[in-house]
Amino acid sequence: MDFNRNAKCWCGSGLKYKKCHLEFDEKLNDFARQGYEVPSRDIIKNQEQIEGIRKSARINDSVLDLVTANIREGMSTEEINQLVYNHTVAQGAVPAPLNYEGFPKSVCTSINDEVCHGIPSKDIILKSGDIINVDVSTILNGYYSDASRMFIIGEAAQEAKKLVDVTKECLIKGIEAIKPWGFLGDIGAAIQKHAESNGFSVVRDFGGHGVGLEFHEDPFVHHYGKPGEGMILAPGMIFTIEPMINAGSYGLYVDEDNGWTARTLDESLSAQWENTVLITEDGVEIIAK
Ligand code: MF3
Ligand code: CO
Repeated sequence: MDFNRNAKCWCGSGLKYKKCHLEFDEKLNDFARQGYEVPSRDIIKNQEQIEGIRKSARINDSVLDLVTANIREGMSTEEINQLVYNHTVAQGAVPAPLNYEGFPKSVCTSINDEVCHGIPSKDIILKSGDIINVDVSTILNGYYSDASRMFIIGEAAQEAKKLVDVTKECLIKGIEAIKPWGFLGDIGAAIQKHAESNGFSVVRDFGGHGVGLEFHEDPFVHHYGKPGEGMILAPGMIFTIEPMINAGSYGLYVDEDNGWTARTLDESLSAQWENTVLITEDGVEIIAK
């Protein structure tokens, strides 16, 4: 790169290049020369952007905490939608799903065999034995954050509880597999190994994604794969890890009527947990959970 060492860094930090991303670029260029896939500059966040995304995530976490405190048997998923909408706008933020590519509600609520993108409705009433994912995404001052949690309503079957627990472990193992200057494939491999060793399957058709300045940015984060494959994980990358794990096989279909909701083909249960993470110089920071 032709960057003058004393000119301002491309990342927008205002620092001199030599004091900011010079070493970073040299490292990435080495990887690129060796044939590895490297992140482009537009997905590397600077400190100001990271702080903006953290603030968005604080609100996102508080919305999920509110859902956690209030979700119960007999409640409709539309009531969850109202909670999310009201608590988000009361804090000066915007629910990212609302009107996103035509999505009609402020949150995704995916029950039982629904893999993702369930649409809240006053006609869907939570009953004992249901498992449900509530997926919350927030925009604050243009900065996006994204996380989801599972809830077990009343008393669920052993197999359902196991699926919910193993899926959370998959998320944790995926995060633990992160090393700065490691590989995106390290994450998917850790998730796939844990899911399949428990007799479950990993959804292929949806994945995690870069997030922060937009809802969905590069890279696409596979939840299966091989260690040492895929994009290099460089400090300043922010993306979601959001494994969708099925009790049966990973095949799914999208509801033709609403155009959104994905369900398992074999009608088996599906679970999902999602965090937004930041790759740091020495590890990983959970931004939204
Ligand atoms: N929150 C989802 C994700 O994790 C995206 C939902 S898009 C929506 O990527 F429009 F359905 F909200
Ligand atoms: Co997401």
